[in-house]
Amino acid sequence: MDNLNSQQAPQRRPHIASPLPKCSDLTWRMHARQEVNYSVSLNTGLLKHTNATLAYGCGANGVQPVRRLVVIDARVNELYGDEFRAYFEAWKIQVVWKVMSGDEAFKTMDHTIEVAQAMAAANLLRRNEVVIGIGGGVLLDVVGFASSLYRRGIPYIRIPTTLMGQIDAGIGIKTGVNHDDYKNRLGTYYAPSSAFIDPYFLQSMDQRHISNGVAEIIKMALIKDRELFELLEEMSSHLTPKAFASNDPRIKEIMSRAIAGMLAELEPNLWEAELARCVDYGHTFSPSLELLAEPALLHGEAVAVDMALCVALAAGRGLLSCVDADRAIDLIEVAGLPVSHPVFNLQLLEKSLIDTIKHRDGLQRIPLSEGIGQTAFVNDVTSAELAQALVWIEQRESRSSEQSCVA
Ligand SMILES: NC(=O)c1ccc[n+]([C@@H]2O[C@H](COP(=O)([O-])OP(=O)(O)OC[C@H]3O[C@@H](n4cnc5c(N)ncnc54)[C@H](O)[C@@H]3O)[C@@H](O)[C@H]2O)c1
Ligand SMILES: [Zn+2]
Repeated sequence: MDNLNSQQAPQRRPHIASPLPKCSDLTWRMHARQEVNYSVSLNTGLLKHTNATLAYGCGANGVQPVRRLVVIDARVNELYGDEFRAYFEAWKIQVVWKVMSGDEAFKTMDHTIEVAQAMAAANLLRRNEVVIGIGGGVLLDVVGFASSLYRRGIPYIRIPTTLMGQIDAGIGIKTGVNHDDYKNRLGTYYAPSSAFIDPYFLQSMDQRHISNGVAEIIKMALIKDRELFELLEEMSSHLTPKAFASNDPRIKEIMSRAIAGMLAELEPNLWEAELARCVDYGHTFSPSLELLAEPALLHGEAVAVDMALCVALAAGRGLLSCVDADRAIDLIEVAGLPVSHPVFNLQLLEKSLIDTIKHRDGLQRIPLSEGIGQTAFVNDVTSAELAQALVWIEQRESRSSEQSCVA
């Protein structure tokens, strides 16, 4: 008896007062909501040993040792691996490293399984041993996807190191890999615990990948932020890796407006229940272009070509003035991005519009800018209009801005 008394009372399941609502035909309707709660912080000096942000985000306090799996892009490992190692050591974070190529060709199911195997080998606890992904959009998409699948979901942190990652790929909740010749065909919506953005990493990017990210910033400016557009115009010839990594307050403003704008658009529509999304600006025709272009275009480059077409469509409909349409195209060009491509012809536009209508559940839902900084959705773009927009771009490329308005 004594022994029994000293044992802990068994934990009892609380009494369930009423059964699930039951319909007469024996159908039970389940209803649950999932809360999504994660932070995105723009934090210069993330790897300074005195900066606790990343350590706390990883659940470390610098006193008790903790164990973490870090999946890092091979190039980022070469460039910043020693700094990460020194930081983790200083905060008593014992790391199991998994170094992976961050090239698009590695965004596959096989590499997702490779990451899941690293998770199994690291013997991770299910809830408390957060996985840390460090790299560009490719690596973060793969790590996020593996995290969402492993044990049906384990926590992970994103540290994006490319501009595209910092203002787009690394701050939302989409994960995925390419499959069967289609981009992002397999994927999940799975939020990270946090995303930490340090523009310091951008110093080592090449100009082409910076311009690639700038395309998505121009998108945010055209659809919702006129001030961002004006800032980009002001800084258009200084959008370099060095500038993005600097403390220039105008660049900081560009970064923070782009991130805040993107998050504001994502938050009320995280699972894309609403298919008319202004962040899809420039993403109506570009998926087909991205698939077909030889040599391959970067995602932002294909988006830029699509945005130029949408500028022409908006000008043709009187949604954008001639002056604003010219400013938009000028900005895209000065940022080092293309506005046309040999395979971006009427046939491709018509075909990709059919694909897009399927993706957007039966309607075109094409976002166009209505003035600079606002969006209008249209569902009735015709082939003739597309042809006219292509001609407008072609002619604009060979004539002065004063003459470039669609009649
Ligand atoms: N999940 C999303 O919401 C979302 C959104 C947009 C794009 N994406 C995906 O993101 C991918 C593109 O991402 P990306 O543009 O970041 O390219 P990326 O991940 O392919 O990286 C580009 C190259 O830069 C290297 N790199 C990474 N960081 C670097 C650094 N700091 N310095 C020097 N080199 C560095 C990488 O090794 C790679 O070779 C695409 O697969 C796209 O589908 C996902
Ligand atoms: Zn995009």
